Amino acid sequence: MLDLQNKHIVLGLTGGIACYKAAELCRALIKQGASVQVVMTESATQFITAVTMQALSNRAVYVSQWDAREPNNMAHINLSREADAILIAPASADFMAKLLHGRADDLLSLMCLARPVSEVPLILAPAMNREMWVNPATQRNVAQLTQDGALVLDVGQGDQACGETGDGRMLEPDDIVQDLIATFQPKLLAGHKVLVTAGPTYEAIDPVRGITNLSSGKMGFAMARAAYEAGANVTLIAGPVHLPTPRGVQRIDVRSATDMHSAVLSQVADASVFVATAAVADWRVAKVAEQKIKKTAQGNTPDLQFTENPDILGEVAQTARARNGELFCVGFAAESHDLQKHAQAKREKKGVPLLVGNIGPATFGSDENALLLVDAQDTQEIPQANKLDLARKLVTEIAQRIKI
Ligand code: CTP
Repeated sequence: MLDLQNKHIVLGLTGGIACYKAAELCRALIKQGASVQVVMTESATQFITAVTMQALSNRAVYVSQWDAREPNNMAHINLSREADAILIAPASADFMAKLLHGRADDLLSLMCLARPVSEVPLILAPAMNREMWVNPATQRNVAQLTQDGALVLDVGQGDQACGETGDGRMLEPDDIVQDLIATFQPKLLAGHKVLVTAGPTYEAIDPVRGITNLSSGKMGFAMARAAYEAGANVTLIAGPVHLPTPRGVQRIDVRSATDMHSAVLSQVADASVFVATAAVADWRVAKVAEQKIKKTAQGNTPDLQFTENPDILGEVAQTARARNGELFCVGFAAESHDLQKHAQAKREKKGVPLLVGNIGPATFGSDENALLLVDAQDTQEIPQANKLDLARKLVTEIAQRIKI
């Protein structure tokens, strides 16, 4: 199922050059399964035409509160009652100032004021010149709108249409869509700090060679995203992978198991959930060559000696026991056979309350997986699904267990 399936989104455009990105945003919303009703202010029509937005959304666009197409002539009521969320992108400085005062002299502001506040979330994606963004008036308005229950997204940083560089660009459409999807997820981990390890580690042999494994990091990145969607403050410690950082997640990149170990120890003190999805190398080369190892005339092969890496999960689980249930640890086990038996044994060996087993060769690199959850009482299968869906289910399981 797509993330915005059965969701009806009112996409509001206000006057700003970032209107050009609203066309792509509209397509991205539809691609995620949403139906989209576009409402534009008169100023927005100076930047992009209603024809473009109608063609992309496959629905007639509304601009005026006097639009006679609605039989009761109350577009502001009808449109806001149908919506699962109202997303204003771009939200201009002027429009935010207007909303703040509850003014309603055009259809879009009228509709925002008329929305049932507890049922229809209002999400604003600001876009403006950097000086306008940092102006105390704008910052005051953002703070007050947030207090009034709107979700004001952050702004992007970089080159602006005016030629200046700084904060104030509208977020990219994909980021806005991720934030919108997050608003529909239950906030099961609100107030928690979740620490996630992900990906493989890389153990150097010499300056140009090393040993790694096939972990793609996708499950860990999905876990971090799902935890953020559930309202947690998330830190993701990632081995070498080429994956984009999920929205709202603080990412720390590491290379070796030793680096990952230090990064985890530096972050774990105030964490309340630790999820170890990383495929950490069990051993590293005892003495990394300072220079590239060269072939010899005699054809000798290098004599590599190994030393064991720290068991990050095992160590954190030990701290967790000392912290008396304040830190909930989840381990992963990638096995090739006898999943249930190995997963239960690994749960006990690592000393964690929950262990998630999966068949390694079947999942490495894939967008899908199937999980076996093992705790002290029970085992539970979560059937094949995409990794984000699995991560959301795992978040629900974790939330249930940390409530007890
Ligand atoms: N793990 C860890 N640090 C390590 C090794 C593993 O934190 N040095 C974590 C992994 O992130 C995972 C769990 O421990 O959550 C299981 O890892 P695995 O390597 O499968 O466990 P091992 O105890 O090494 O067992 P095996 O003999 O199967 O390799």
